[in-house]
Amino acid sequence: MRKNIVAGNWKMNKTLQEGVALATELKEVLKGQKPNCEVIIGTPFIHLASVAEVIKGSVIKLSAENCADKESGAYTGEVSAAMVKSTGAEYCILGHSERRGYYGETPEILKEKVDLALANGLKVIFCIGESLEEREANKQNAVVKAELEGSVFHLAPAEFANIIIAYEPIWAIGTGKTATSDQAEEIHAYIRSLIADKYGKQVAEDTSILYGGSCKASNAPELFAKPDIDGGLIGGASLKAPDFKGIIDAF
Ligand code: PGA
Repeated sequence: MRKNIVAGNWKMNKTLQEGVALATELKEVLKGQKPNCEVIIGTPFIHLASVAEVIKGSVIKLSAENCADKESGAYTGEVSAAMVKSTGAEYCILGHSERRGYYGETPEILKEKVDLALANGLKVIFCIGESLEEREANKQNAVVKAELEGSVFHLAPAEFANIIIAYEPIWAIGTGKTATSDQAEEIHAYIRSLIADKYGKQVAEDTSILYGGSCKASNAPELFAKPDIDGGLIGGASLKAPDFKGIIDAF
């Protein structure tokens, strides 16, 4: 059976000290609790090793927000999947619309990153989702299909088992405009049908599909109650421990 997951994406926020403090606070508020979902925090590279120490012995798991599309070598400023793994992180967010939009990450580049992350034992939170223009032209299904086909549908079924999908409509990210739970459920069900067509019904049933885009404690219960919404990828509301805890408690 698939897991429910609440994953934070800190993006480019928090100094090292602030990040360690936030992880410490989150560990405290979750102490002695048994959340009904897996809890992951996605942090900038520089936080990973320190946060890994902080969350030891807690329910919190760790993710990077990106990794390089090359294995190692002369790629100044890049951080490889092997380096991410060596910090203690277990997950890597890939394909976020901010990476695609601001840093020119193409489906081909993302395919390389996905392969390297998996080869290094990381699980991948793979983000897909349409722009406002695409939604208005009713192209959202075609967009998510192409994003899956371009970067993850080449995987063997055993590899695909390490993929978590995050559907994040770009028009809902950081805008305060959440997709309605019906809008989100409709496309989540469609994404699951695409996975079923490619890998079969069982793999599709076992794949966690998260919603992201202005998800917060007030709207999480309605979203997470939908049959094909298995949790959230949380940006803004993951930057304060009580807000993030409120979303975890939606399960
Ligand atoms: P948001 O970001 O929750 O701030 O809208 C979500 C994301 O981009 O992952």
